[in-house]
Amino acid sequence: VLESGDYRVADLSLADWGRKDINVSEFEMPGLMELRKEYGPRKPLQGMRVAGSLHMTVQTAVLIETLQELGAELRWCSCNIFSTQDHAAAAVVKAGSAHVFAWKGESLQDYWQCTDRVLTWPDGEGPHLVVDDGGDITLLIHEGFKAEKMFEADGTLPDPDSTKNAEFKCVLQTLRDSVQRDPTRFQRMANRVIGVSEETTTGVNRLVQMARDGTLLFPAINVNDSVTKSKFDNTYGCRHSLPDGLARATDMMLAGKVCVVCGFGDVGKGCAEALRAAGARVFVTEVDPICALQACMQGYTVTTLEEALTEADVVVTATGNRDIVMKEHMARMAEARRPGGSRPASVPVVCNIGHFDNEIDWEGLVQDPSIRRETIKPQVDRFIWPHGGSVVVLAEARLMNLGCATGHPSFVMSCSFTNQTLAQIELVTHHDTGKYQNSVYVLPKHLDEKVARLHLPKLGAKLTHLTDSQAKYIGVDKEGPFKPAAYRY
Ligand code: NAI
Repeated sequence: VLESGDYRVADLSLADWGRKDINVSEFEMPGLMELRKEYGPRKPLQGMRVAGSLHMTVQTAVLIETLQELGAELRWCSCNIFSTQDHAAAAVVKAGSAHVFAWKGESLQDYWQCTDRVLTWPDGEGPHLVVDDGGDITLLIHEGFKAEKMFEADGTLPDPDSTKNAEFKCVLQTLRDSVQRDPTRFQRMANRVIGVSEETTTGVNRLVQMARDGTLLFPAINVNDSVTKSKFDNTYGCRHSLPDGLARATDMMLAGKVCVVCGFGDVGKGCAEALRAAGARVFVTEVDPICALQACMQGYTVTTLEEALTEADVVVTATGNRDIVMKEHMARMAEARRPGGSRPASVPVVCNIGHFDNEIDWEGLVQDPSIRRETIKPQVDRFIWPHGGSVVVLAEARLMNLGCATGHPSFVMSCSFTNQTLAQIELVTHHDTGKYQNSVYVLPKHLDEKVARLHLPKLGAKLTHLTDSQAKYIGVDKEGPFKPAAYRY
């Protein structure tokens, strides 16, 4: 166990169970285990402080211990209040692999305090490297930097009462405390950070906006857009973990039901495929005509949420956008499905698999005194209107595959986390070469191909090798990269 007590997890006595799970996961994460073999002896991350904010699961434990074996010194929190697997967190702490601040069911205040503690080594200084999922560490550093500059200019402190947003209130409170304690901490941190590697679509969106505005304080590697991440984790991961979450939360029969998937991007494609495989009739909503046409070609009905609502038994949001299913939508679903309503009576399920909870109007539901909330079990709530109609909402509108189940399986996370590890190595290796400026980059294609290559043997796949004349004919190197950057897979 870490000596200092510099950690916060639910229950250290779960560590042995966690370790057993981690041991098995290692077999399913060949990319990470190969990187341990390849880079372990050279320790490219020696002396690097790494702060991570990424679902503290069994799979993440294998990532953490890989980074540690490469020389890193780690502090870790979860990027979602419900996604921590407490036994994994305990095992990591007990092994001394990282200082972990994460448990399942944090309050929003806890969440931001944990994020802040991950950025605070015992000497008061911050990390050299950041692993982010959704961009909350990056957000805290950037908001902290801004807050300190404001305090320097005119003594203004961040004011939690200046916003109505419950989450941002907690951010501002955390920053207020920080600025009062140490008014230059985030500025020093911004100087020290070599770079961030970002896991998900939504976090990348935030980074791209900052780079566009010229406010990004350090280089960023967009791990999400490695082909071996977004075309695997987002699609095949969700294809696995969406029905898993639905089953663990509700155990409802999907066959024959009408399921609506909002957003037909990488995540939506996996969700729609899983629901259809379970026998559901799948409707898709999209704003992008290309994705809408793709959905049509796959045989899905493309329509609007408004049209599909009253027929829907399940609605899943996967847009990475805000305000997709509003209270009024859910009210119409409940009304149609109430006893004696226009459709056969039932309790439709509404859930989100996108990164943030703003896809579903959770606040609108909980703040309406006329709608009764009945918690069936943690992360499964039924909202009942006065007329008796109701809907079930999963994981308080947060990502349901991690809130109601255990997220993606190890093998696909190995693809994602092998990219993460290579990104961390890449940032350190090129720290002084000027290759990475304060902008957003994807990993070079040869590394993307390497990630795939590391996962093939485990599946017994036999790769065909180009002959010299074939390589010349299609104009590629025999060892790859095999495709131009713009190829879409
Ligand atoms: P994407 O950008 O590939 O797909 C999102 C799609 O939603 C796009 O095609 C877009 O046109 C569509 N869209 C946007 N606004 C819409 C609206 N109002 N109505 C209907 N469609 C709309 O993004 P990706 O990779 O599919 O990710 C989606 C979300 O899922 C992101 O927040 C991402 O961070 C998250 N994610 C969650 C995972 C999980 O395990 N729960 C795994 C990977 C990503």
